[in-house]
Amino acid sequence: MTHLAIIGGTGLTQLGGLTISKRETLATPYGAASAEFITGELFGKRVVFLARHGNPHRIPPHNINYCANIWGLKQLGVERIIAVAAVGGITTSMAPGHIAIPDQIIDYSYGRKHTFFADDNFPLTHIDFSFPYHAKLRAELIAAAQQVGLSISETATYGCTQGPRLETIAEIRRMEQDGCDLVGMTGMPEAALARELGMEYASLSVIANWAAGKTEGEISMAEIEHNLQLGMAKAADLLKGFMALS
Ligand code: HPA
Repeated sequence: MTHLAIIGGTGLTQLGGLTISKRETLATPYGAASAEFITGELFGKRVVFLARHGNPHRIPPHNINYCANIWGLKQLGVERIIAVAAVGGITTSMAPGHIAIPDQIIDYSYGRKHTFFADDNFPLTHIDFSFPYHAKLRAELIAAAQQVGLSISETATYGCTQGPRLETIAEIRRMEQDGCDLVGMTGMPEAALARELGMEYASLSVIANWAAGKTEGEISMAEIEHNLQLGMAKAADLLKGFMALS
């Protein structure tokens, strides 16, 4: 079976139902990864789990060592990555608690180490990134959602902001004009780094809140946490369906 990893984001620091067989801290040329790489079985299938923000959750999006994380997974033989991410919803169908499998990205982040092709480790390559998420892996996630009777959005454009602050109303208005449906802080450079190393990558985006200006009042952490509980339970169902199909 193709070796699968799940990267857990906010709301998924630990993967419930994972029977752990191994925990590894890997030395990478890029430094330390966010957390131990945990190998185990999820719903009967082998998987490597990595907590993107560390365990406990503490690393802000702009300080995540994306290169070490992706490099470490590659070293462990991982070929496919399901990246679970908490996001804000911008367009009308992206309500809190809903799940989307995005098909496009716009990167608004800055100052992050975003490529493996910046030093002599690799010959310079300009990867094709027309379709930033892997088509087959996306299709399998969508099929899994159907299998477990979950209504999801099968396409969406993910806008990646720098964080850790949330956005202004004007920033979200601009992002919507740009075509973004979702806003998150960790989608890039993760997706591009996986592509650079030839790994399949797809995002399972869980909507935690309406983005700035899309609802009355301020966005609270309590609201985000509440919606994430609901959304992550759906994500776990979807993953169960995915494992059953794979
Ligand atoms: N903006 C950016 N990232 C997020 C949000 C948001 O509103 N919600 C969850 N992650």
